[in-house]
Amino acid sequence: MTQKADTIRVDLADRSYDVRIGRGLLARAGTEISGLLARPRVAVISDENVARLHLDALLRGLGEIEAATLILPAGEATKGWAEFSRTVDWLLSERIERRDIVIALGGGVIGDLAGFAAAVLRRGVRFVQIPASLLAQVDSSVGGKTGINSQYGKNLIGAFHQPSLVLADIDLLSTLPERDFLSGYGEVVKYGLLGDADFFAWLETNGPALAAGDARARQVAVRRAVEMKARIVERDETEQGDRALLNLGHTFCHALEAATGYSDRLLHGEGVAIGCALAFELSQRLGLCAQETPSRVRAHLRDMGMKTELADIPGDLPDADGLLSLMAQDKKVVAGKLRFVLARAIGAAFVAGDVDMASVRGVLADALRAR
Ligand code: GLY
Repeated sequence: MTQKADTIRVDLADRSYDVRIGRGLLARAGTEISGLLARPRVAVISDENVARLHLDALLRGLGEIEAATLILPAGEATKGWAEFSRTVDWLLSERIERRDIVIALGGGVIGDLAGFAAAVLRRGVRFVQIPASLLAQVDSSVGGKTGINSQYGKNLIGAFHQPSLVLADIDLLSTLPERDFLSGYGEVVKYGLLGDADFFAWLETNGPALAAGDARARQVAVRRAVEMKARIVERDETEQGDRALLNLGHTFCHALEAATGYSDRLLHGEGVAIGCALAFELSQRLGLCAQETPSRVRAHLRDMGMKTELADIPGDLPDADGLLSLMAQDKKVVAGKLRFVLARAIGAAFVAGDVDMASVRGVLADALRAR
């Protein structure tokens, strides 16, 4: 507990905020948040699983600050119109005012939904993210993407609404089931692969300790990932260009998630890891990166005990054409052309708008044949 917290500033003019990363932040939540409050009252939104583990600690940490709490069902199904309108109505019934703060205590589902509710409530109130999963700490809690799913696809309804503060308490990660932790690790590896070869090499060495619970290594990894995301979001807050780099592996991932019905056959971060391996395979086939690079990516994922190949996904998958057509429904389609994040090396990704679909089909067909 002697580990000092790190602070990463996300510099976005009047929407700037700090991401605090460290141990024991929940217990200090009142002190961390009090500077933002116009009155000692907040609304806390969480889900059943996270609330059971961490809500009491947060309420104790808030001290004298009064908290109204809403506990939603856990799971992706919560991220839809029904729970969203329930949440907004609840905030109104609790008389949450324009200058009040909404706190999202949970993983990506709660952060996205509560952030979107804060974005529309009284045309926008401030919110604080307290991410409880590794995926939320390194990705979804930072950068202001908020929203819900529609019957037409995931995250199709939403708003950019930056939080006023993010408290990434490393201790919360120790309550995650191993599979959820490793799924979040897929997003951590993504940062090394997209823009920092030294970080990837550091993960190759330190990943196993990090997975085994080393809090210092976890803090270093979360800090580096958040720092990289902050710099990208500062350059391109609304994803007109560079922010798409954060989608490395995601075009393949979204097709695989759709093919597996967004079920627990494939968690999001698992799909990102497999998607990153496929993106490097595609880059190599297009002659962009060295022959041995995709194997190095896969070797690290395998060392971590992660899903790495299509063969690691249980059950049937569509054929290569079926997966291609699922990719075409991805919201990253621009004028009928699929945008892909490709790489010239580990740590050197770029966005390509004109990828040869026959090569994508070839990568998928070979990956399916290996099942
Ligand atoms: N999760 C990708 C982004 O925030 O842009």
